[in-house]
Amino acid sequence: MGTTPGATPPAPGRTPVPDQADATRVVRAGLPSPQAYEPPLPGPVFAAHFHLPGDATGPYTYGRESNPTWVRLEQAIDELESPGAAAETVTFASGMAAISAVLFSLVRTGDVVVLPDDGYQLLPAVRERLESYGVTVRTAPTRGDAQLAVLDGARLLWIESPSNPGLDVCDIRRLAEAAHARGALVAVDNTLATPLGQRPLDLGADLSVASGTKALTGHGDVLLGYVTTRDAGLAQAVRQWRKTIGAIPGPMEAWLAHRSLATLALRVRQQAAGARALAEALRDRPEVTGLRHPGLPSDPAHELAGRQMLPGRFGCVVSFTLPDRAHAERFLRALTLVDDATSFGGVRSTAERRARWGGDAVPEGFIRFSVGIEEPRDLVADVLHALDVARREA
Ligand SMILES: Cc1ncc(COP(=O)(O)O)c(C=O)c1O
Repeated sequence: MGTTPGATPPAPGRTPVPDQADATRVVRAGLPSPQAYEPPLPGPVFAAHFHLPGDATGPYTYGRESNPTWVRLEQAIDELESPGAAAETVTFASGMAAISAVLFSLVRTGDVVVLPDDGYQLLPAVRERLESYGVTVRTAPTRGDAQLAVLDGARLLWIESPSNPGLDVCDIRRLAEAAHARGALVAVDNTLATPLGQRPLDLGADLSVASGTKALTGHGDVLLGYVTTRDAGLAQAVRQWRKTIGAIPGPMEAWLAHRSLATLALRVRQQAAGARALAEALRDRPEVTGLRHPGLPSDPAHELAGRQMLPGRFGCVVSFTLPDRAHAERFLRALTLVDDATSFGGVRSTAERRARWGGDAVPEGFIRFSVGIEEPRDLVADVLHALDVARREA
């Protein structure tokens, strides 16, 4: 795919076929051309430095600048986030490293940044840091495209859709057009959807940013982040930031992430189907309020999500509220197929009482539920049983 001047040239790879189904593309994304007696996905390259004769140039010099294991993963993500056009991905040690790379490398003192006020719970800490550097930060909710009203004079608009944990959705194309008309850059946090669920660059965003820790890698054993853009200058700024801050992915993590991609389409489909089944089962429970899942036809975000997300891939998260903290804790304790744990997107279902972190504006009984790849029928039975136990013990 495309290269930024001065960036690491991609290792020789297969030529991606643009009109393939993404479920096909993802199986071989980023793999090198077949070489006799070599593995399809070469193992992780552990190297702090590389042999470097003569001048300090070449694809691989020092391990903080580049690594062939990252480059393969970055090419794979290019193919998924931007199948129809050249793009560049820069991977990071975590989603927060990727988010910080965009916000701190592209924004200067005196700039205005627009953030969602219902996005990932560390955004307020990012806001505080930006403000301490003399950046003006405005916030507005994701729902109803409310960020439109505060765009004037902005340098960068940050979108999170669907938002975590509230699962509101905004019209990315509409917001991107409005932001571009005002000269602002647009970045979309694509963590929840994954590039198989939503392609922000096709919807007009300049940057698609994600935590690969969640559904992208999907096994709950890797922290990773990435930024993908079609703009060589933006890629260069973000890459330079990574080199300066040093928030690089480990080769083992990058390799595990790449290996996980082959099952991404299967996981995304199964998890979305399970999430829809769970949401439908929760709809009729009297103790459940505030039920949200963009795949549920009655959800306020469904129509818009259906227009901008890829068919049937509305993500694995279902959120809802139980009457109070004690009720929610009884429910979580009674689950047998679901771990009480944070994060989302993994193959094993997890759920948590989100208010325990203190960072989100949610009620005490609010549950963020991440549906894994279990058979939906079994998962739904487990959840309904746990709801019965929680109600009986009230
Ligand atoms: C939407 C979203 N963006 C970013 C992040 C941060 O990712 P990481 O934990 O990999 O730093 C998270 C983590 O939960 C998230 O949910």
